[in-house]
Amino acid sequence: MSTAVLFDRYGTSDELYGADVSVPTPAPGEVVVRYTAIGVNPIDWKLLGGGLRDLVPLDLPGGCLGVEAAGVVVDVGPGVRRFEVGDAVIRHGRPGTYRQYEAVPAAQEADELTPQPGRFSAEQAAVLPVAAGTAYSALVQVGLRAGERLLVHGASGGVGLAAVQLARLIGAEVIGTASAQHHLLLRRLGATPVAYGDGLLGRLAPLGPFDASVDCAGGPQPTETAAELVRSRARRVTVSWDPGARAGDVPHLEHVPLELAATLDLIGHSAFELPVAARFPLAQAAEALDLGRKGGLGGKIVLLPGAAAPTDRLPPPAPGSSGPAS
Ligand SMILES: NC(=O)c1ccc[n+]([C@@H]2O[C@H](COP(=O)([O-])OP(=O)(O)OC[C@H]3O[C@@H](n4cnc5c(N)ncnc54)[C@H](OP(=O)(O)O)[C@@H]3O)[C@@H](O)[C@H]2O)c1
Repeated sequence: MSTAVLFDRYGTSDELYGADVSVPTPAPGEVVVRYTAIGVNPIDWKLLGGGLRDLVPLDLPGGCLGVEAAGVVVDVGPGVRRFEVGDAVIRHGRPGTYRQYEAVPAAQEADELTPQPGRFSAEQAAVLPVAAGTAYSALVQVGLRAGERLLVHGASGGVGLAAVQLARLIGAEVIGTASAQHHLLLRRLGATPVAYGDGLLGRLAPLGPFDASVDCAGGPQPTETAAELVRSRARRVTVSWDPGARAGDVPHLEHVPLELAATLDLIGHSAFELPVAARFPLAQAAEALDLGRKGGLGGKIVLLPGAAAPTDRLPPPAPGSSGPAS
């Protein structure tokens, strides 16, 4: 048997419960993956709340959150040649990773599994798909080139921190909005931080002109300042679901095909890393969701399915460490 964190109806994190489930057997074309780290994202609490039910319908009761994880292949179904037992993989896409084991389609066209490059720890690999993949698609959409100046709203969140680093890898200059507590982090990553809030346009305008913008925050202020400071509509994008952005002339993101593989190509062997701000055992997924929803973390949250379920949050890693290697 193994553990999965499930829910039977839309609501708050109180709906989540741990269930004993069988370790799956792979169908033809599938592999079974044992997860070593699972990424937590805003879409998880948005799905749980039911606000996205038309866009991403879930099978309830027994729904499972989680759209990214890293793990190891432990069983291979008939007809699979792409993976072998023992391969480290990254799972991404369809919800369902808040569990210890999962049967996943192995074909590249299914785009749910990508080989995990050896240079990443399991934790880093688990948090790459949503943050880095989304940031990559956003930079492709605005056509960012070396030597250009990019405005990133919400630069200290998961997607924003990835956008800052990928833009720097492309060779762009980056100005990023964030709360003051995260300005040092942004400076370390090579961006110029600017505090959001009243008077933002006045603070940003002298740092322009901007060639392109990526909004990872949503809301009127990011929309208005992007529309004001980036001349071409095609060079603005928002990853937020906020309908006001589209009305305010900031187009919504369209993900590129095989996004994670392309993102990993750009990252290569660079120093790209997403800070992990908190770790929880899988059994404490509800607590992890509540912390993420509160915001202000300056990094990602990771669930560790292998961790026993102590009552406390796991301590942060020592500086310079990105957690357990896979
Ligand atoms: N379309 C897609 O496929 C897709 C993919 C991924 C994410 N998303 C969406 O994109 C958004 C960001 O995701 P995430 O994972 O990066 O979230 P996150 O880690 O929670 O980050 C949120 C960011 O917003 C910043 N922020 C809050 N209020 C702001 C304001 N008024 N002005 C500027 N920045 C502000 C926060 O800054 P401080 O912490 O410094 O206050 C933080 O940097 C979420 O809404 C998520 O649902 C969409």
